[in-house]
Amino acid sequence: MHISAELRQLFARANRVLVLTGAGVSAESGVPTFRGGGNTAVWKGMPFDVISSAEMVERDLPAVWEWFDYRRDFLAELTPNPAHYEIARWQDSFVEFTLVTQNIDGLHQKAGSREVIELHGNIWRARCTTCSTAYSMVEEQRPEACLECGDLLRPDVVLFGEMLPPGAFELAAARARACELCFVVGTSALVYPAAGLPEIAKGAGAYVVEVNPERTPLSSLCDEVLTGKAGEMLPLFQR
Ligand code: APR
Repeated sequence: MHISAELRQLFARANRVLVLTGAGVSAESGVPTFRGGGNTAVWKGMPFDVISSAEMVERDLPAVWEWFDYRRDFLAELTPNPAHYEIARWQDSFVEFTLVTQNIDGLHQKAGSREVIELHGNIWRARCTTCSTAYSMVEEQRPEACLECGDLLRPDVVLFGEMLPPGAFELAAARARACELCFVVGTSALVYPAAGLPEIAKGAGAYVVEVNPERTPLSSLCDEVLTGKAGEMLPLFQR
């Protein structure tokens, strides 16, 4: 896969870089993507966007927990891949580096990325349905109920039909507006507002690079498209 001389120079000289990732960056770690490859995830006969919905939290919270507990147990066995490690390495290579992810799997953090803007939450956290107190499930089990107000806990992830965490998109958009180089890695660019970030970066004059084995609705907007796997493409960038 050829990386243009222009992009190599930009990568060597840039100060402000933003990376947006999707499920594809975790595919080489064994995390199934949602859409790439033609099929969609199904749980006990329910399409993932039904079981992963605000409506289901209202209707059957234990079923939602069963789905996310299953996914968390599955993820616990998985490790970051070279794409995650490369991105973690980049955070100390630029004046301003921003990592925005749609992923809830926590693999960026496991690879050493700090200050990750999580647009869709994190599967390793629970949150109170009333006071929003958050509980980490990385090391310990979640409590039966909120220790602050006693109400029910739910997965701290953004479900279909829900708003993004307060301030997360606004911060990501501000960074996209200021970046010189924007990488879009492993996303089908179908889900907004996340898919709008590269458009914001492009509109503000950034050089936008897509890394994906398949074309997406975003490909035609990009200055450069690297057709391939993130774990193979990203380590090709040296700084
Ligand atoms: N490297 C790079 N990209 C890859 C790889 C890989 N090894 N393998 C697959 N891909 C690409 C696919 O071609 C596809 O375009 O990753 C993309 C994954 O797309 P989706 O499954 O739609 O995932 P994503 O874009 O992250 O979905 C966005 O939708 O379901 C909701 O909340 C969920 O965060 C998710 C959001």
